Amino acid sequence: MLTREELDSLPDHYHVGHMRIAPNITLAPMAGVTDSIFRRIILRMGGCGLVSTEMTNAASVSPKALRRHHLLDFYPEERPLTMQLSGNEPDLIAAAARTVEQLGADILDINCGCPSPKITGGGHGASLLRDLPKMGRVLRAVRAAVQIPVTLKFRAGWDEQSLNFLDTAKLAEDAGVAALALHPRTREQAYKGSADWSRVSAVKRAVSIPVIGSGDVKDAHDALARLRDSGADGVMIGRGAMENPWIFMQIAQIRRGEPPFQPTPADKLDFLLRYMAMCEEEMPGRPALNKLKQLIGQFVVDLPGASHVRVAVHTSLSLEQARGTLEAYFEPFIETATA
Ligand SMILES: Cc1cc2nc3c(=O)[nH]c(=O)nc-3n(C[C@H](O)[C@H](O)[C@H](O)COP(=O)(O)O)c2cc1C
Repeated sequence: MLTREELDSLPDHYHVGHMRIAPNITLAPMAGVTDSIFRRIILRMGGCGLVSTEMTNAASVSPKALRRHHLLDFYPEERPLTMQLSGNEPDLIAAAARTVEQLGADILDINCGCPSPKITGGGHGASLLRDLPKMGRVLRAVRAAVQIPVTLKFRAGWDEQSLNFLDTAKLAEDAGVAALALHPRTREQAYKGSADWSRVSAVKRAVSIPVIGSGDVKDAHDALARLRDSGADGVMIGRGAMENPWIFMQIAQIRRGEPPFQPTPADKLDFLLRYMAMCEEEMPGRPALNKLKQLIGQFVVDLPGASHVRVAVHTSLSLEQARGTLEAYFEPFIETATA
């Protein structure tokens, strides 16, 4: 736990170009999870300074594709909003960048971190870590195409033998990138092992643009400790927000000197029901059920009987059935808590 003095000395905002990001705790982009519904639900609780769309392939921003996948849909209440693109052809990604700017993005982020073979196989995501000259061409093309600030999200390198996060960071800064977010694992690690935040500190020392750390932040106190220890300008939270969507609010409370909100089983069930209701309203039927399936594994990860409820939700045939499963699961905990 940080002392009052330490809390007061932490940075509480950073700038991405002309955009002031405050607080400096942000929601990590997560494909399949951080759609407009999840982003709004997080933002409404407070404490989150910036959200991002899921990664979108630069080849999929035609009006027809946008109507099909809805990945770049958003509401004004989500601002400031980052839209994230993946791609490796400078002209194509520059054209997509112009579309994203027209759609109303405040910030454009380029993904050079996604480890999925589906993405790297096409030369996108972390694959660009193996070809920095090409990454440089992509970043410069995008930077020249739009007025909005361009940021980069990247990993520490392709594998432990080719760690190039410092070179990547400097290359991005030279290309005019306005801020960096580093998930300090390698592509080969995917999500195994742990995120080495000393790499975030090293990048912070190497460049003069804001540096955000992303990886393994699961607890509000830990988020603040990482901010202190790494010297980063901000902290980005992904899976920790799926498990504990209150984490941003809790961080803000700790900073204000208030005890952080501790969600009860009733609060957790209420969150899931609200989330499901929004999904049902905005994407009825199967997509809504699929959204719940994406979230549930991480949401219940530390709860007793997690694997049972995860399987039950995953095998549900309807949202109604999943709702029944969740109510039955949480009910005994709620009764115990209120007895
Ligand atoms: C389900 C899932 C989807 C993700 N999708 C994206 C994505 O679309 N774009 C991106 O830059 N990173 C993506 N990431 C990586 C996260 O943004 C983050 O950097 C990483 O999960 C480490 O942070 P965490 O430990 O807080 O989750 C994804 C991660 C997960 C778990």
